[in-house]
Amino acid sequence: MLPTGPPIAARRTVSGVDAVVSVEGLSKRYGELTAVAEVSFEVGQGEIFGVLGPNGAGKTTSVECVQGLRHADAGRIRVLGLDPRTQVEQLRPLIGSQLQESALPHRLRVAEALDLFASLQPGGPPWRQVMQEWGLTPKARAAFGSLSGGQRQRLLVALAVVNAPQLVFLDEMTTGLDPAARRATWELIERLRDNGTTVVLVTHFMDEAERLCDRLAVVQGGRVVASGTPSQLVAAHSDGVTVRFSTSEPVGFLDRVPGVGSVQRRGDTVTVRGEPAIVARVGRALSEAGIEPDDMDVVRPTLEDVYLRLVGEEG
Ligand SMILES: Nc1ncnc2c1ncn2[C@@H]1O[C@H](COP(=O)(O)OP(=O)(O)OP(=O)(O)O)[C@@H](O)[C@H]1O
Ligand SMILES: [Mg+2]
Repeated sequence: MLPTGPPIAARRTVSGVDAVVSVEGLSKRYGELTAVAEVSFEVGQGEIFGVLGPNGAGKTTSVECVQGLRHADAGRIRVLGLDPRTQVEQLRPLIGSQLQESALPHRLRVAEALDLFASLQPGGPPWRQVMQEWGLTPKARAAFGSLSGGQRQRLLVALAVVNAPQLVFLDEMTTGLDPAARRATWELIERLRDNGTTVVLVTHFMDEAERLCDRLAVVQGGRVVASGTPSQLVAAHSDGVTVRFSTSEPVGFLDRVPGVGSVQRRGDTVTVRGEPAIVARVGRALSEAGIEPDDMDVVRPTLEDVYLRLVGEEG
């Protein structure tokens, strides 16, 4: 019999690259609660795709439906060309999923866990190498239950990648990690991407999203409220930039610079707000007027500013 499902190779494209995850109209209810309502997004081959949103927004529900861990009520999902509802057995060896803490027995030792996962899903690098890379070698003989929160988290991420998956799902991977461990984890995630692994990353950390994610979706109330690259989101959903400098000279002419929204003066400090293009124009206009302040600062909105605008300060 001829296979009827789509081939494993991805078909659709995101920004010109193959899409390894394609989600259209994903919906999921828990009784009366609509946790996810018609969510659509695509993840391109080799990108790090972020899913951001407040607590309860439906992030985990969405990515677990994509992994075949929960069943969507409606929508079309393709992961590496497979349908996670009906082809989860074929999908499982191709993807890596960060487990919940409760999924591991507390008495299981770090080395045993990595050895076990590597043997269940062969094809990855030697598990001792993974243990070394993720800084777990000193804890090789420690039981999972005796690890600190951050060490547990690191083991769970290491287990998700021990089979060298094509696509890995990480849900709040750096929660509970100390700053050095977060940085180290980011570098390992970037290395995964450099090796061609596609990463879907659920995170609450804007610095993490800004640094790691090629594209991201902001989810609120079960819906995607914005998506794009971090810089696209900042450009599309912010009210521009602020240029600030000091001068005692009159600067009334800045009002007429195209793109300038407002000019305020307090003492010698001048604050100009407007669209991103004003940075160069204000600099040029000042220079033409013979004013060359040596303390010119440009404040651009961050992803966090934009995120809070999108979801509201109360999240
Ligand atoms: N198994 C379940 N049974 C009933 N309701 C659920 C279940 N899982 C999630 N929910 C509800 O669905 C909504 C979305 O939950 P989900 O875990 O997807 O949110 P999230 O965006 O991952 O949030 P967080 O940032 O807190 O992890 C929440 O209101 C949650 O209470
Ligand atoms: Mg969650």
